[in-house]
Amino acid sequence: MAFQKKIVRDVDVTDKRVLVRCDFNVPLDNGQITDDRRIAASVPTLRFLVQAGAKVIVCSHLGRPKGVTPEFSLGVVAERLSELLGVPVPLAPNCVGAAVVDMVDRMVGGEVVLLENVRFHPEEEANDPAFAAQLASLADVYVNDAFGTAHRAHASTEGVAHIIPGVAGFLIEKEIEYLGSALDHPKRPFVAILGGAKVKDKIPVIESLLPKVDKLIIGGGMAFTFLKAQGHEIGKSLFDESNFDFCKKVIAEHSSKLALPTDVIVASELSDTALASAVGVNAIGVNDIGADIGPATIHDFSEIIATAGTVVWNGPMGVFEMKPFEAGTRSVAEAMANSAAVTVVGGGDSAAAAEQFGFADDMSHVSTGGGASLEFLEGQVLPGLAALQDRA
Ligand code: 3PG
Repeated sequence: MAFQKKIVRDVDVTDKRVLVRCDFNVPLDNGQITDDRRIAASVPTLRFLVQAGAKVIVCSHLGRPKGVTPEFSLGVVAERLSELLGVPVPLAPNCVGAAVVDMVDRMVGGEVVLLENVRFHPEEEANDPAFAAQLASLADVYVNDAFGTAHRAHASTEGVAHIIPGVAGFLIEKEIEYLGSALDHPKRPFVAILGGAKVKDKIPVIESLLPKVDKLIIGGGMAFTFLKAQGHEIGKSLFDESNFDFCKKVIAEHSSKLALPTDVIVASELSDTALASAVGVNAIGVNDIGADIGPATIHDFSEIIATAGTVVWNGPMGVFEMKPFEAGTRSVAEAMANSAAVTVVGGGDSAAAAEQFGFADDMSHVSTGGGASLEFLEGQVLPGLAALQDRA
């Protein structure tokens, strides 16, 4: 899909003060970054701005802090960004206020500053116009490259774009090109793979994708409500009673497009040492907990993926964080990596799984957005994107 918004290369940024919103909401363990993909993904836009001689003022949120919370400081991100970008990235003491204005005033073209966590101010999530105006006053141009936060209408993702001219960064351009092409003109057969625990979370995306796809593969915890709707015993597996009728309706109306598990992995407990066994879907015991797809299903799903033209995947096939239940998710990632199809991994858990099993580099695109990529696939307008200037 041709990207409709102005991009950073469409505007003159030389010597301009450019406020760049990135999504540096990265996982931390004991203060250390455990996955820096979102930081690495911001580098093309930031490097372009540095080389173009812009004064690059970067901002982001990290976590969901309530007020100023030291463990959510972006200090550790500034260090990693500096390494990846190859230039110093000092951290400002705040994201607005006199000290920040002073720091920005002293910048010269080609320099980078990272503002402190915008969510230290509740006005950020409230999309407070005065706060957005303070952020906007730091810059002449706004670049949004925070795809992962584009579904939030916050001051730094949406509000500022109403005050100074807003354009997209290269990461947002790439995300929308892959996700948008899959939806608008997929190479066929177009296969969507949906997993994860809850039917409720996936209803809008199922409804949006069903008319577009040639095949809809369903796995993960949510598959068990579909299996029960087919009349199978599901024991102690996840059951979403309030969406049982939805599952029945999908099965009744779209059975030729649906691919559901024919066997599953069950255990009596969910743990790393659980004794797991494969059973056909018509042989699940009353005390069984279903925690992954089985080997016959892996075989069938892998064949569908191998002959696809486009594959979009969102949601794991089982409890992949635990060894006995990782095979389904691993195998789907592997089948996608080996397929000649255009392969797009929605962010969040599926992206983490593709990375964990070593297949991320073999995908056409791994999205940096969890909630954002899901909302995009649901057909929703992302406010952070809508606020940017149109190309025409
Ligand atoms: C994400 O990780 O999905 C984004 O950074 C948005 O974070 P949020 O869900 O806290 O708004």
